[in-house]
This record gives sequence, C-alpha cells and structure tokens, in this order.
Amino acid sequence: MTHLVLVGMMGVGKSTVGRMVAAELDRPLFDSDDMIEERTGRSVREIWSTDGESVFRALETDTLIEALAEPEQSVIAAAGGVVLSEQNREALQGADAHVVWLMADVDVLVERVRNGVHRPLLDDDPEGTLRRMFVDRAPLYQEVADAIVSVDNRSAHDVARAVLRCCA
Ligand code: S3P
Repeated sequence: MTHLVLVGMMGVGKSTVGRMVAAELDRPLFDSDDMIEERTGRSVREIWSTDGESVFRALETDTLIEALAEPEQSVIAAAGGVVLSEQNREALQGADAHVVWLMADVDVLVERVRNGVHRPLLDDDPEGTLRRMFVDRAPLYQEVADAIVSVDNRSAHDVARAVLRCCA
C-alpha cells in the first residue's frame, strides 16, 4: 500500500496541501500534529512546555510509524521535524511510501508562519530560526524525498495538483 507522505519545513503548507490531495484521492489524511493532539488531549505547545521537546519527538515518531503501518493507502502530512530522527528517516525510506518534499524559499516561510500557535520553536527570532533550520534540515529532507515540489509562487491548489501529477 503506497502512502503519500508530505515532508518539509514549518509553514510550507503540508497540512493544507495534504487535505486537498487526500480529498482528491479519496484517502484518509494523517496529520502528525493533529494525531498527537487527539491522542494526548493536549496541544503541541502544552506538551512542549510541560514535558519538553524529547517527549514531543517520541510522540512524533510513534504517530509516524503508526501512520506508515496502516494497511489502507493514505496521505500523511508529517510534521516539519520528523526528519531529525534517524529512526524516522529509516522508517520513511523503508516504508511503502512515496515521500514528497514540499520546498519553499525561507522568505516565503517567514511570511507564512506568522500566528503558528503550535510552533514553539519559532517564538523567538522566527526568521533566523527558519534560516538556520533550513540549512540543517534541507539535506535530511533531500535524503528521504522521492520527489521535490516547489511551492514558491504557487497557490495551495497548484501545489496539490503538482503533487498529484508527480506522485499519485
Ligand atoms: C516542528 C514543526 C511543527 C510542530 C512543532 C515542531 C518542527 O509542525 O510539530 O512545532 O520541528 O519543524 P508543522 O511542520 O506542521 O508546522
């Protein structure tokens, strides 16, 4: 069962595009952050501030592994940090999944992440953080990606169409 997995930086549009692609393909959508919030009954920010990042990352791994193990073909909007763990990268590479890296210029991300309540990492200096994060994470997204779709100067609908063209 080939899952379609969207990876990429915070603000790139994984959840929005994921919803569109899932609707078009008539597949369930698994959104990591939503899964974690549903499962724990707590917000990402709450988990982050009371238990810390490592607890959040462990939950992120659990939800990714679970979503990849689902027998039904799905669309998975993986949270931005999912590529940080080697275990997650191996799971993505070993699964029957088509992994698409949604890529954006950091200037575009900076505009889009305003008001992101579930993104404690961006509380201070969002622009500088995103720039550093992009440098650190780009090779990791590249490592797991079967395809790269640029979102720059494209509406979410156009990005969804590009994802469907390349990967569905
Ligand atoms: C994170 C991305 C966020 C959320 C958390 C950490 C990251 O999800 O999981 O704030 O490390 O990139 P989105 O990519 O859906 O914004």
